[in-house]
Amino acid sequence: MVQSFAAHIQTLQRQVEETLSLLEPEGIRIDAVLFHSGTEGVYFGDDKHIPFEAHAHYMRWVPVARPDQMVLVQPHKKPRYFQVVPTDFWYEQTFNVASWWADSFEVVPLSDPNQIMDLLPSNRRIAFMGENTAFASQMGLPSNLHNERHLRNRLDYHRSVKTPFEVEQIRIANQHALKGHEAAHQAFMAGKSEWGIHMDYLLAAGMTEFDTPYTNIVAVNEKSAILHYQNKRMTNPGQNHLLLIDAGHRANGYCSDITRTYTQDSVHPVMTALCEGVNKLQLHLVDQVRPGISYIELHEQAHAGILDLLLEHDVVRGSRSQLEEDKVSSLFYPHGTGHLLGLQVHDVSGHFKDETGILAPPPEDHKFLRLTRQMEPGMVFTVEPGLYFIPVLLDPKRNDTNTFNWSLIDQLIPFGGIRIEDNILVTEQGQTNLTR
Ligand code: GLY
Ligand code: MN
Ligand code: MN
Repeated sequence: MVQSFAAHIQTLQRQVEETLSLLEPEGIRIDAVLFHSGTEGVYFGDDKHIPFEAHAHYMRWVPVARPDQMVLVQPHKKPRYFQVVPTDFWYEQTFNVASWWADSFEVVPLSDPNQIMDLLPSNRRIAFMGENTAFASQMGLPSNLHNERHLRNRLDYHRSVKTPFEVEQIRIANQHALKGHEAAHQAFMAGKSEWGIHMDYLLAAGMTEFDTPYTNIVAVNEKSAILHYQNKRMTNPGQNHLLLIDAGHRANGYCSDITRTYTQDSVHPVMTALCEGVNKLQLHLVDQVRPGISYIELHEQAHAGILDLLLEHDVVRGSRSQLEEDKVSSLFYPHGTGHLLGLQVHDVSGHFKDETGILAPPPEDHKFLRLTRQMEPGMVFTVEPGLYFIPVLLDPKRNDTNTFNWSLIDQLIPFGGIRIEDNILVTEQGQTNLTR
């Protein structure tokens, strides 16, 4: 761990140095970058704290998800970590400083963030990266360098290719999540409620509600067709037919994002077959991942595969080319095939054409696709095809009795939908599935 973290920091240091020297000829002179973790907030009209999320640009340097932490990065100098531990008797303030990461920094303990004012190099053009730009102004950092766009775009672009340390964290986050998924499967088979399944997931994955990278989606039966279903019904809906669970974990801030769909014997046999089909399709898509492939192409393959399944199981009827032209697969598969994954579940720069931040937006017909880039070794993203029976999308087509097999669709709507999601690392030769 010590070695891989030290190498990770060396990579980040080099990225900052190269970026600053690239920007200088463009007239953007930056001598140092101060990464800020963020400041704790409270809800409007309340003194209750909003759960704190450290800013990813900072977290990439220091694995301490605490407010008011800062890292000063200067070319050819060891980065300085300003470790703010307030003198406070209301909340736990001490935290572990482990040598595996702390050795990569000059650690400067502070009891108040304002103490940094006397410690920053004077007469230097310091770029501030973080949400609290009012604090940056208070420190006298030039406002044109607050989250300076050229710098931020380049660093965002680099974040898509993970260092070996980062890949290891995502792998660990997957291992923990998988323990939760196994327990969730058992809970579902035992007939537990969504809430019961969720609690078993947390227990087995070894985490609290606050540690999940996103709100767990634990959807039984028809609720699985609600893409971001957030409720946890506390009572069993009568009979557990199908479970869609989308739940992750975090390791030093890095996320896993995994979805599984399970069925019981009581589910409609076509739903079981579709579930097997989506599983197979997902594995086939993962197999296509390799450097140089465009993610848009993978997404198009996913749509072709979903249309195959719909035709094979007589959910829709008609000529393939007409169905493609009518974009029928999008009614059953309305989301993107995946997204970059890292410190953010939907990691940034999925739409970047290059490091300057010029955008490559998704195709008009696939506006929810979060990733349009060419695959590169070191990228980590999800591959998550799905097939759903979503009344709000299907109902407007009720008059089309030629294309849609309504009697079958109406039998399948109570079982909701299917999604299978793994986390994939692009390698020089192809890919590694970090989830299986
Ligand atoms: N868990 C959110 C997603 O799969 O994108
Ligand atoms: Mn995802
Ligand atoms: Mn997910």
